[in-house]
Amino acid sequence: MTRTCPHAPPAEHRRLRAEAPVARVKLPNGLTVWAVTAHEHIRTILSDPRFSSNRRDPGFPYLTRERPPSSDLKRMLLELDPPEHGQARRSVLGEFTLQRIRALGPRIQQIVDEHIDAMLAGPRPVDLVQAFSLPVPSLVICELLGVPYADHEFFQTRSATLVNQNAAPEEVGRVVGELMTYLGNLVAAKAQNPTDDLLGRQIARQRESGEVDYQDLVSMAFLLLIAGHETTANMISLTTLVLLQQPDKLAALQRAPAKTLAAVEELLRYFTIAEQALGRVAIADVEIGGVLIRAGEGVLLLANTGNRDPEVFTDADELDLERGSRNHLAFGFGPHQCLGQNLARLELQIVIDTLFRRIPGLRPAVPEDELSFKVDATVYGIREFPVTW
Ligand code: HEM
Repeated sequence: MTRTCPHAPPAEHRRLRAEAPVARVKLPNGLTVWAVTAHEHIRTILSDPRFSSNRRDPGFPYLTRERPPSSDLKRMLLELDPPEHGQARRSVLGEFTLQRIRALGPRIQQIVDEHIDAMLAGPRPVDLVQAFSLPVPSLVICELLGVPYADHEFFQTRSATLVNQNAAPEEVGRVVGELMTYLGNLVAAKAQNPTDDLLGRQIARQRESGEVDYQDLVSMAFLLLIAGHETTANMISLTTLVLLQQPDKLAALQRAPAKTLAAVEELLRYFTIAEQALGRVAIADVEIGGVLIRAGEGVLLLANTGNRDPEVFTDADELDLERGSRNHLAFGFGPHQCLGQNLARLELQIVIDTLFRRIPGLRPAVPEDELSFKVDATVYGIREFPVTW
């Protein structure tokens, strides 16, 4: 079931939602799991503690060709269940409050402006992904964490491997090991020479509480670095593409910038880029939508299709920038709902308000059918996006 239109989930997913919103499906790797496509059921499962996020459980619906390599690394926040999940999440939640994130606004604006300056000064056409979409969120998350941006090539290439479903398990294992070693050394250096950044503050907090566990910090840094890169970058490219394709909507937005936040919400719903990232495994027998899911069975939550559910969104396939609904599943739902969502929203808002204003003639340099979309990645996006002006 692959997308035939870059702007919509595969047609079969829609059929499933209409005919069997909780359906038994076979994944390309041979694993049989439940696919859930209705908005209501996806929300129910994501907030039900009888579904675990433990990716190492044999029933977990992995989408890579082969089962991910077994790992003795500490489980990341994303993989934890209660009560460990709540404890781990609370320890870092304070870094991502709306107030904390808003304070980053001027610096994000500066980063966006500097990258646009460099684009304007450079040759045309240029690949928007490399010149803008990727470096902007990458630099933002690096500064927030306290990871030297000078090493960006090292972790950008590795994070791309981690979300590529065709990467060989040995390669994924090697990349994870390299990133962990890199971050382990970084945390050790910060423990020696304290820094005022997220990692530095977490080290200080642990020391104060007397519970020092640098391994925990390394796995948190790992998750934030990867999640902070691949997601927002893809959203920036897709947002740029669709707004350039629908100039009337872009013009309306430029006339009323106060509506950008609502537009960001709708763009998040419309693309639901983490479409293949939401999995759970039942740890008890649970009935969902009249179907019995047994303990040990994997569940794949096709949030992209759930976000086009006509029961919840009128004209769900339309990009309606004034829809103003936050009732979407692009950031997941329930206890694991995206920790970085305030940051992602702010970055997208600043990008939309700045990019088209500063480069008024911006346009794709190739037709859409020549673009390579990431249909085989955990996070949907565009690999290369040549633009000109
Ligand atoms: C979790 C999507 C940006 C950090 C999630 C989940 C989704 C998601 C769907 C839920 C996973 C699950 O329930 O299994 C997105 C999208 C983004 C984005 C669409 C951008 C448009 C970010 C950024 C950061 C981040 C910028 C870091 C600063 C995290 C973390 C979690 C998470 C740490 C795990 C939370 C937990 O398990 O409690 N994200 N994300 N995300 N995201 Fe994001």
